[in-house]
Amino acid sequence: MQIDVFTLFPGWFDWFRTQRHVTNAVALGSALDCVDYRAHTPLKWGQVDDTPFGGGAGMVLRVDVVEAALRARYGDDPVAVRERRRVIALTPGGRLLDDGLVEEFAAEEELTLLCGRYEGFDERILDHFCSDQVSIGRYVLAGGELAAMVVCDAVLRKLPGALGHEESAQEESFSAALGGAPEYPHYTRPAEWRGWGVPDVLLSGHHAKIREWRHEQARHRGGGESLS
Ligand SMILES: C[S@@+](CC[C@H](N)C(=O)[O-])C[C@H]1O[C@@H](n2cnc3c(N)ncnc32)[C@H](O)[C@@H]1O
Repeated sequence: MQIDVFTLFPGWFDWFRTQRHVTNAVALGSALDCVDYRAHTPLKWGQVDDTPFGGGAGMVLRVDVVEAALRARYGDDPVAVRERRRVIALTPGGRLLDDGLVEEFAAEEELTLLCGRYEGFDERILDHFCSDQVSIGRYVLAGGELAAMVVCDAVLRKLPGALGHEESAQEESFSAALGGAPEYPHYTRPAEWRGWGVPDVLLSGHHAKIREWRHEQARHRGGGESLS
């Protein structure tokens, strides 16, 4: 998978790129690149934003600047680019990210993530250059960078080999394997701590019963029914 993140702060991703599942995904052929809007601005003084028409606080990311950055990266009109790859704007009011959407993104070969800053995007960016608008929650961050990292993190760990031990991405919270329910509880050594024990079944060595207990726990946490 090729992920391109458009941002004013590409340096934020330096740390993220060192994380194990990201380095694993990259070693297996994926790529995570950043494109700095400011490096492509057609404006004389390096501006990327401007005051909102109609007045009001804050600055708005300009449509001509975002177009120039997308054109520089893809050599094409961004209106056409979104027809062939998912171009995802991170925005608080967008579609809420969940496991289903992460699965959808993980099935793509290429993704583009646009990070906003300040007051956000000129609406024409969303209307004409983007295929998706995604929110990581109903709260407002200072910029789209952390939201883009959340998307990249969730997507990259779904890729085969990224976690290094396949099974852990298959049976986990919200996965189809658990019917969309949250994951069951885990315990490890010591088996007893301050009088707090571990369910006997987990110490029984009886794999079928353990599996049954885990799925029952997940169902219970999910409200008693399959959520898928
Ligand atoms: C300060 S926010 C802009 C908030 C905007 N004025 C509003 O009220 O919706 C700046 C940028 O951060 C990103 N952002 C903030 N919160 C987000 C969230 N919950 N999910 C995704 N992106 C978010 C977006 O890229 C946004 O353009």
